Amino acid sequence: METELDRRAREILEGNDRGGYTVPNGRVYPFQWNWDSAFVALGFASFDQDRAWREIETLFQAQWADGFLPHIVFWRDDAGYFPGPAVWATGRTPPTSGITQPPVAASVIRSLWARAKDKKAFRPRLEALFPKLLAWHRWFAQVRDPLGKGLVVATHPWETGRDNSPEWDVPSRVIDTSQVGEYQRRDTTHLDQSVRPTKLEYDRYLALVQFGRGTGWDQQRIARENPFRVADVGMTMILLRANRDLLALAEELGRKQEADELRKFIARSEAGVGYLWDEQRQSYCSRDVITGQSSGFVTSASFLSFYAGVRHQTRDQKMLAQLERIAGAAKYLMPSLDPEDPGFDSIRYWRGPVWAVVNYLIATGLSDAGHTSWAHRVRRDTRALIEGAGFFESYCPITGRGTGGGDFSWTAAMWLHWARHE
Ligand code: DGY
Repeated sequence: METELDRRAREILEGNDRGGYTVPNGRVYPFQWNWDSAFVALGFASFDQDRAWREIETLFQAQWADGFLPHIVFWRDDAGYFPGPAVWATGRTPPTSGITQPPVAASVIRSLWARAKDKKAFRPRLEALFPKLLAWHRWFAQVRDPLGKGLVVATHPWETGRDNSPEWDVPSRVIDTSQVGEYQRRDTTHLDQSVRPTKLEYDRYLALVQFGRGTGWDQQRIARENPFRVADVGMTMILLRANRDLLALAEELGRKQEADELRKFIARSEAGVGYLWDEQRQSYCSRDVITGQSSGFVTSASFLSFYAGVRHQTRDQKMLAQLERIAGAAKYLMPSLDPEDPGFDSIRYWRGPVWAVVNYLIATGLSDAGHTSWAHRVRRDTRALIEGAGFFESYCPITGRGTGGGDFSWTAAMWLHWARHE
């Protein structure tokens, strides 16, 4: 039976649907965002499978010829957001940003395919999406893995999805912001600035956009010369998992050559992921590839090693010990930053708040690795947060208060797909 929250979640998705794509939140984020759309598709799948597939199909209409998939697609202009298409100036149709985002789409398509009742009807759509997903994964391997270790090097904090995580503080210090000039932020007209990134962080975000634009969005050059180049633990673990899911789809479709190629990607990442293990911190952490320095921060992304299917007995034990410690310090898992870190800020975006989508990935990984009671705990906490506060962008891990935008699409989607279930 449909509950009040189920109905509300469905209403949010339908209300944020702009016809083939869904905005994360009508006011703060009025365009199509890459990884938001992937999660949103899972929500749609609970009541409209056709619409779920369409969300991803629309996103891939904005794919560049080299396989790159942008983080924002500006299907229509909207003055309520900054930086808009004119600032990015990628010269594409439709207009897009020039950076990418965590590649969850292949994993979502695998999940949509598994639940498709009428396989015959959806097979052509799977056949059509498969090469596009593979092209994006190849792009990561060819352009964003300069160490050849199967890691993902992010060239902008926005690419990681965890915009203002303290992981980026030190690597960002070298970014020259002297040419950024005056600009008007729109996020802080919609939301209190205490929950958003600082002015210094925004200056750096814009300086990196200017850098990319200055290269004419030459992705090869950006990957070589961008002042910010960090192997992101989140994107790396998500891509490893996505390659495994795409491999399962390749096998399903009988694409032997592509399956072999994906096996190589997976083997390379499995062998290389140790680069992100911080022995001193006893955790997986992002690492600056320019200086070779680990961030040393334990964030929610550190726990995605389980989701990636990385199995390492000692490291897994250490990550479980970190999990236990954090569970003792925060009422609700999983804070985006270790609550015992001096920079922890329970309401400021990715410096403390809990995000339902990351919880879903963490819990999926913990469950797959056999740590079911922890997986249940993460789901129970997510459920309690939504029941207590509604469908917010994120939540304070101490009080459970909603933070950021309301009526948030991916939180509604996570409710429908996962958090509400026993
Ligand atoms: C924003 O505008 O805050 C977005 O996170 C950028 O992707």
